[in-house]
Amino acid sequence: MKNKTTVICFANNKGGSGKSTTCSNVGYGLSLKGRRVLMLDADMQANLSLAFLPEERVLEIAEGEKNLYYAVKKEEDLSDYRVSAGYEGLDLIPASPLMSSLEYDLYPKEDREFVLRKCLERVRMSGEYDYILMDAPPTLGGWAMNLLAASDYLVIPVEASPWGLFGLANMFDFYRKACEKNPQLSLMGIVVTKVDIRKNYFRQTMETLQELRDVHVFDTCIRMDSNIEWSQDNSKPVMAYKKSSRSAGEYMSLTEEVEKIASGKKQH
Ligand SMILES: Nc1ncnc2c1ncn2[C@@H]1O[C@H](COP(=O)(O)OP(=O)(O)OP(=O)(O)O)[C@@H](O)[C@H]1O
Ligand SMILES: [Mg+2]
Repeated sequence: MKNKTTVICFANNKGGSGKSTTCSNVGYGLSLKGRRVLMLDADMQANLSLAFLPEERVLEIAEGEKNLYYAVKKEEDLSDYRVSAGYEGLDLIPASPLMSSLEYDLYPKEDREFVLRKCLERVRMSGEYDYILMDAPPTLGGWAMNLLAASDYLVIPVEASPWGLFGLANMFDFYRKACEKNPQLSLMGIVVTKVDIRKNYFRQTMETLQELRDVHVFDTCIRMDSNIEWSQDNSKPVMAYKKSSRSAGEYMSLTEEVEKIASGKKQH
């Protein structure tokens, strides 16, 4: 029997919370563990695409028709839109800046919350991938609902900063609405990112999060590390850019935690 594909969406309406960084590094981490992974860049900023591909290539794809925007607009099977992310077992469907108009394009469609789910159906059912990871935009609208309606799990990266928790209640409300559309969806957990352990915000953020009932907070926190920015400047995950860096180790242990939770629902 084929393994079930696990679909995980990295989302938070708070901008700059580490969604793209976390999605790209967990994706790469899973591929290092021999898992087959497809990543969807669902944000018009194309940061997940830029995390793996050089800027010229991302622009070329964005200007063409082989990107997530066209696949969804035309309601096509996503198989033909995949490109290699440059590592074995790791594929990507790049974004386009036009995705900013998806809210409008989806609005008149029948079952508009489930358009992406239908586009993903064949790839998901084929068992070709162990994981499909999606990098969400920092907005909560019809497109974000499409992402959650197609997911098994939501992971919320939260930045350990004074404003990091702002809007989290809205994210939870949105998640609950998404569960009504997609009862399979569960909140895998919150991962605290961009931590500066010298600062009190970190302790405050952790205390506030630990007070939340029924919400898992990952043991691994991702600390501030300039290697992350350098790795992104080089279109590489930090684990590929500098394996010995602190954040590479942290992202690997986060990957282990993600897989442990996901394998609670499936066996490898
Ligand atoms: N652990 C870290 N250490 C240092 N810089 C980081 C770290 N994590 C993320 N960053 C930087 O913070 C910025 C925001 O990160 P990222 O793009 O992953 O967030 P995001 O939630 O995807 O943002 P957006 O809401 O715009 O999509 C980026 O410039 C990234 O390089
Ligand atoms: Mg992002």
